[in-house]
Amino acid sequence: MSVEKLTFAEPFFTVLYVEKEEKFSVEPMSLVINLAHKANQPLYVRDMPVAPLKATVVAGVELTHVEKALVFLDYAKLNLKDKTTTEKIKTNWRSLYQCSGQERHKGLPYYKSPKVRVGGDTEFNVCYVDAYNYPSGPHREHDRNFDEVHAQILGMGMMQKVESKEWEQDRKIKVYQEFIMAPGIIHDKFYNKKGEYPWHQYCSITPCVYLPIEIDR
Ligand SMILES: [Fe+2]
Repeated sequence: MSVEKLTFAEPFFTVLYVEKEEKFSVEPMSLVINLAHKANQPLYVRDMPVAPLKATVVAGVELTHVEKALVFLDYAKLNLKDKTTTEKIKTNWRSLYQCSGQERHKGLPYYKSPKVRVGGDTEFNVCYVDAYNYPSGPHREHDRNFDEVHAQILGMGMMQKVESKEWEQDRKIKVYQEFIMAPGIIHDKFYNKKGEYPWHQYCSITPCVYLPIEIDR
């Protein structure tokens, strides 16, 4: 039974990692992500289940049967319309290119907080996109073998499945499926049982913040 304050997204977000708590009260409007994917255990909001790798936005309620969960306390206190705030994010966090070193990420307006690992098998960081309608670039493989989903935290974004990398021309990419995401939405899994992915990418709709979640296979 534990409640740990994670520092990886500070000072922009206050994030708690809650493990094995029968009851956990949430007061301000907060974004809760159920990370009990290995145990396949829903958590409950007034007796209604929130499935593993799904999220919800709640206030003034008690969560019950929390196996593993992340809580972004008062998540909407960060104002992405405030230029001073977004400039501070861009200064404090590294660009996607600085993180990955991959040529395809050069110049992308994506910025990432440090990464954190919880529960022995799950890693994440927070990513800020400083632009409207800006794709991250199609890919099918990651820097290591993990199961990946994304949770939207602020603003609007989407995960897209695309025909193939070859369709990319002047940033025109042939998309065949989209999962539109607002705060509290986690898209369906893209990986199959063998851990294979279709060509896919994140794309902002507005300037936004999302949480890539990487689970050891
Ligand atoms: Fe990916």
